[in-house]
Amino acid sequence: MPNPPATVTIRKGGDDDGHVGSLAQVHQEAERELPDLPPNPVMEAIDLNVFYGDFHAVHDVKLSFGKNEITALIGPSGCGKSTVLRCLNRMNDLVAGARVEGQVTYHGQDIYARGVDPIMVRTHIGMVFQKPNPFPKSIYDNIAYGPRVTGMKVDKMDDVVEEALRGAALWDEVKDKLKQSAYGLSGGQQQRLCIARTIATKPDVILMDEPCSALDPIATSRIEDLMLELREQYTIIIVTHNMQQAARVSDRTAFFTAKPDETTGNRTGLLVEYNLTNKLFSNPNDKRTEDYISGRFG
Ligand SMILES: Nc1ncnc2c1ncn2[C@@H]1O[C@H](COP(=O)(O)OP(=O)(O)OP(=O)(O)O)[C@@H](O)[C@H]1O
Ligand SMILES: [Mg+2]
Repeated sequence: MPNPPATVTIRKGGDDDGHVGSLAQVHQEAERELPDLPPNPVMEAIDLNVFYGDFHAVHDVKLSFGKNEITALIGPSGCGKSTVLRCLNRMNDLVAGARVEGQVTYHGQDIYARGVDPIMVRTHIGMVFQKPNPFPKSIYDNIAYGPRVTGMKVDKMDDVVEEALRGAALWDEVKDKLKQSAYGLSGGQQQRLCIARTIATKPDVILMDEPCSALDPIATSRIEDLMLELREQYTIIIVTHNMQQAARVSDRTAFFTAKPDETTGNRTGLLVEYNLTNKLFSNPNDKRTEDYISGRFG
């Protein structure tokens, strides 16, 4: 017996534009006809378990990520969203004590298999972080950095820089100051610069960990519009605490929670429900999802 629809009154488009509606209604702008499961997954997590030392942080996650789709990972703090996201491009390799079990496939190939170069993985599967983190270099050199270090064959670097900045909807704002420090940009511009830096190496998948949490509603709205544009060319996986954001931009949503171990009290993250965003927000299958999206938990 399905649970009744969870309706949550929220403000649409950030703060004060006066529209209200349910999360499912908010989703309508981004909505497309999609099958229940991604028919052609670009990436899959199969029985993914992650440990930090002895601590079992994430338990048995199964997820598939559709091509040219935006997938949102949501859930309360500590449920393992960032941990799962970092597994998708082997960023957890850089975390002392982190151990990954199970498989993560990219076009069917296990990215943890022997002989796979994590640097190559990260050129195909790029990442944008919560806090904009431009390098202490010029705007131009921030973008040119990736193509240079990955040895990308580039005819004209100027064209690569322009294309990436246009792709991240930043070109018009910076075209006359490319040699100036990236630190002179606003937070929202810096985050778009980081997105431009990521797309400059022509990845296939872009991972974003709360990319708007340090931004104001206007900058957030620009990044959300940008995500919907980027979806045409890229597969995007985003962690967000903002359910309205998940509703506004994502095609599918995965809801995680953390379950305390009865003896140790350690809270292990697990995937509760994964569904089309519209279904998850209008008719969740699991009571825990319903409680979370209606604000009764978390
Ligand atoms: N480097 C680390 N070393 C040890 N434990 C870690 C490390 N990173 C995360 N954890 C633990 O793993 C669990 C999942 O953390 P994670 O950061 O993935 O959660 P999250 O869902 O992204 O939380 P938030 O919403 O607060 O960002 C938490 O209990 C956290 O304390
Ligand atoms: Mg996190």
